[in-house]
Amino acid sequence: MRAGPTRIPGDYNASLSSSLKHADRANHEIPKSLTQQKITKIIAFVFLSFLAILILYIIVSAFYSPDTSWVAFNPCRGAVNKTANNGETETLISKLRDSVTFLHLKDLKYAKTSMVGNTWFLSSFSDTYEKEEAEYLYFPSQTSKGRLLCIKGNDTRDGTENSYALAWLESLPRSAILLEGLSFISNTHYDFENLWHGVSSLAPFVGWSMKHGCLKPRRWVLFKNGALQPRAGSWLQKLMLSIYGEIPIERFQKGSDIVPYCFEKALVMRHNVGKMGREKKLSVYQQIRCKARSFCGINLGRDVNENGAPLIRVEGCRVKVFQSEDLSFCEQVEVLTYTDILASPHGAQMTNMIFMERGSVVMEFFPRGWLEYAGVGQHVFEWLAKQSGMLHPEPWWEKLDEIDCPRPQNRAECWSFYKNGKVGLNQTFFAQWARTQIGEVKLRKQISLNLMAYNSSSCSC
Ligand SMILES: *[C@@H]1O[C@H](CO)[C@@H](O)[C@H](O)[C@H]1NC(C)=O
Ligand SMILES: *[C@@H]1O[C@H](CO)[C@@H](O)[C@H](O)[C@H]1NC(C)=O
Ligand SMILES: *[C@@H]1O[C@H](CO)[C@@H](O)[C@H](O)[C@H]1NC(C)=O
Ligand SMILES: *[C@@H]1O[C@H](CO)[C@@H](O)[C@H](O)[C@H]1NC(C)=O
Repeated sequence: MRAGPTRIPGDYNASLSSSLKHADRANHEIPKSLTQQKITKIIAFVFLSFLAILILYIIVSAFYSPDTSWVAFNPCRGAVNKTANNGETETLISKLRDSVTFLHLKDLKYAKTSMVGNTWFLSSFSDTYEKEEAEYLYFPSQTSKGRLLCIKGNDTRDGTENSYALAWLESLPRSAILLEGLSFISNTHYDFENLWHGVSSLAPFVGWSMKHGCLKPRRWVLFKNGALQPRAGSWLQKLMLSIYGEIPIERFQKGSDIVPYCFEKALVMRHNVGKMGREKKLSVYQQIRCKARSFCGINLGRDVNENGAPLIRVEGCRVKVFQSEDLSFCEQVEVLTYTDILASPHGAQMTNMIFMERGSVVMEFFPRGWLEYAGVGQHVFEWLAKQSGMLHPEPWWEKLDEIDCPRPQNRAECWSFYKNGKVGLNQTFFAQWARTQIGEVKLRKQISLNLMAYNSSSCSC
């Protein structure tokens, strides 16, 4: 009987019967207290039976009653409460995992208007815009309600084959891989091979880093309209290397299956430097220039006068001719670092102008038909000159006296007829132009350099 209440219910009957046997033996020895013994026996029996039933009830309800009412009967409420909440939390997390919805990375709804500011990449989000800065998206953030960006798929040709979703760190989609640290995610309409398109995609990240304590990414993720780009062109790769160091380009190939990859922190740029302020653009290109020169071991120190201003080199003029394909990245940086006037036919190699000192001059030549058929895109180097602090006087367009494309009424066809034409040369014009520019560049550079309060060596990041 002593042990009864503490025993587990399975042993209870045995315990009870042994207690009763013991009581029987006692009855023989002391008959006087027989009534008293009987009463005790009955009370004990009733009490133990009640206890047995109670314990049985608790066990049965724990197994079969999913609602919470049974908790009220439980003697160790705290512990059971905890277990119950864990179970509920597990269920909720599991539901959240399953409710992560993936959308196409390239939204065809915007195919027609993608060139006028609408983006078919991550189309359900609006950019963050801070004054003077390029537009961007950051995850996790208040607008994402603390959720991380996840991307699934590694299709390199069709962005509709890849998809994205938002998910909380605690409830990432099943089999998701968490990519730790900060990722820089870039999307472009063009590609990461072309120098101009490449530097236009890179510049907004440089601007963001400059504002955010020179933060560097742990990885690059490159997309062309949602299609994964596993590599960048060699010129751009070198430029990225010179600014951020050795940073891998993500290919989403960690497993044997296509699984979601979720970014602990992600900065997404999908608009180039469009909304960036003029001064900010100048400082971004100053930073790019500075990093490239430092990476290539180019030290302007020896060309700086006693006041720290660079020497103006147009005093005695030297003309050098280069074919950019023949030069390594660093050779291109070096040639342009020491160039005051760049004269070139229109082409991606002109992107190297960003490595000249601010206030240098760019002269651009266009073949026949470009002015008439090339559209607004032919002005990209005029824009880049403005962004990077160069002067870009009126370019030279070779005259198209006679339209000689086979079907003049078909503009697209005519454009491809003229597109890759060789650029001609009007010696009269060029001689005149050179005389003016060489005369003026010295003066102009002196003025702009003085105004700029030139600071030669230190990169801001
Ligand atoms: C048990 O859970 C309820 C609500 O789920 C809560 O209000 C109560 O504080 C919890 N008790 C303990 C001891 O955790
Ligand atoms: C995409 O990822 C899968 C799974 O990791 C891999 O087997 C496949 O080769 C990848 N495709 C490309 C184009 O990288
Ligand atoms: C060459 O340039 C000069 C000066 O701009 C101009 O007067 C002349 O018409 C041009 N000649 C041709 C053939 O375009
Ligand atoms: C050049 O940079 C240094 C340090 O970054 C700064 O102290 C100095 O004022 C700058 N000089 C000019 C002329 O901007």
